[in-house]
Amino acid sequence: MSETRESALTEIARRLSGMVIVSADIREEDVADADIESLVGHILDFYKESQKPNVLGRDALAEIRLSMQQQAPKQVEVTPSPDYKPYAMDYKPAYTIRKTRHMPTGATVADFAEHFNDRLAKMERIISEGHAGSMSNRVKKIENVKQYADGREVTIVGMVYSVSTTKNGNKMITIEDETGYAKVIVSSYTAGKQDKAAGLSAEAERIAPDEVIGISGKVSGPFIIAKSIIWPDIPVRTRPVTKDDLAIAFLSDIHVGSKLFLEKQFRRFLEWINGNIDYRKQLASKVKYIVVSGDVVDGIGVYPNQDKELAILDIYKQYDLLFELLSEIPEYVEVFVLPGNHDAVQRAEPQPCLPSEFTSKIKGSNIHLLPNPGYVRIENLNVLAYHGTSLDSVIQAVKGCSYAEPARAMEEILRARHLSPIYGGNPIVPTKEDNLVMDEVPDILHMGHLHKNGYSEYHGTLIVNSGTWQARTSFQARMGHIPTPAILPIYETLTRNLVAIDFNETMS
Ligand SMILES: [Fe+2]
Repeated sequence: MSETRESALTEIARRLSGMVIVSADIREEDVADADIESLVGHILDFYKESQKPNVLGRDALAEIRLSMQQQAPKQVEVTPSPDYKPYAMDYKPAYTIRKTRHMPTGATVADFAEHFNDRLAKMERIISEGHAGSMSNRVKKIENVKQYADGREVTIVGMVYSVSTTKNGNKMITIEDETGYAKVIVSSYTAGKQDKAAGLSAEAERIAPDEVIGISGKVSGPFIIAKSIIWPDIPVRTRPVTKDDLAIAFLSDIHVGSKLFLEKQFRRFLEWINGNIDYRKQLASKVKYIVVSGDVVDGIGVYPNQDKELAILDIYKQYDLLFELLSEIPEYVEVFVLPGNHDAVQRAEPQPCLPSEFTSKIKGSNIHLLPNPGYVRIENLNVLAYHGTSLDSVIQAVKGCSYAEPARAMEEILRARHLSPIYGGNPIVPTKEDNLVMDEVPDILHMGHLHKNGYSEYHGTLIVNSGTWQARTSFQARMGHIPTPAILPIYETLTRNLVAIDFNETMS
């Protein structure tokens, strides 16, 4: 007896039975070539939130199949120009990815206490070593300050527990360590020293909760009257240059899978890096490294009703398309990719590298996965790449910071020597060691997250926020944020020149 196979239409009707009725106007040939599994899933999704009766007619089927076609990743193929001899091709790459210690942890009060004690100890070291000249009258245990007589000059180092403004307009800062706390007053006025007091008062406006700072001042009853604020900060240096004329390009927030992912502009970038566009071709040929700072796909379920804004509903397909695209970058270019808050790893930071289940489409050995934050030494430059989720809370807490100026908030992060200085602003993992302390001074600090390009130089460190490859979202429109998509910053490591290339326009 020969086995009779169920027709595609019958199988679809059977799988949908009890949930969606298949109308009689649908014919076998309408579904003969369909991936039944996937089609049934999309039909169910289509009717999930619909108020319409669950009767699948021919028009609805056509609509569903069309949207499936639009979602399916297209083949990516960029053929490099045959006469293009890129300058960076002949250089042997020189990079070292810093290994992260993975320390399993719980989330108990004790875990958090241990985490914050480690932060305090690391920051205390950074401050006392970096500002040795200010530490001569240091009182190591804050609880001992109360033993000092009025008028005594002291320096303390501790974590900011709270910042408030008194009725007289002075700032009151509570600083604590594991032994106790001290109340510090930053006066808005000091007789005969208005300018100095005004300067100190303005500085105090920049203190954010949970930062570790030092204070030098005079004991006065139960208070310390501040004379200076000692920020952890980074030393002033001259950024090294490389011996060869190479370049590093910076990308972030590609958001593949979003309906607003600017695929056309991204493909234009791929054509450019392959030497197929006659615009700044020499610069393209110098790019030896690319750092990608997170939100590489749009993800799923990141915010309510996100599915309505997705072109690709399957997270695996989002990563497939991303890595198909990134695999079109020539293999002599080393690409470092880290996750962000939209990616398929834990939300709390530090985030691990993207797991291998999402990376099967990586073709070359030139694509490297980094954790967030990720430290990579490129040539003789220390590059610190961090997605930048904490920028939101820094912008909210620190006077003078705004979404319009990403580099300004990034400077505050350098000054705090901590990538997520404000606890509670974004989730963190209470690891035994606080890996968000910036224990190495970066020559380049690269972030994204704000979807806005921004650049500056602070104490010799190059600050780059590389914007986005996603058009303005409805959320950004509601918040009044104006993104700067498809603008690629490129740093020339021999000349210290930073160039931004706009891929929104047809280039010539
Ligand atoms: Fe993003």
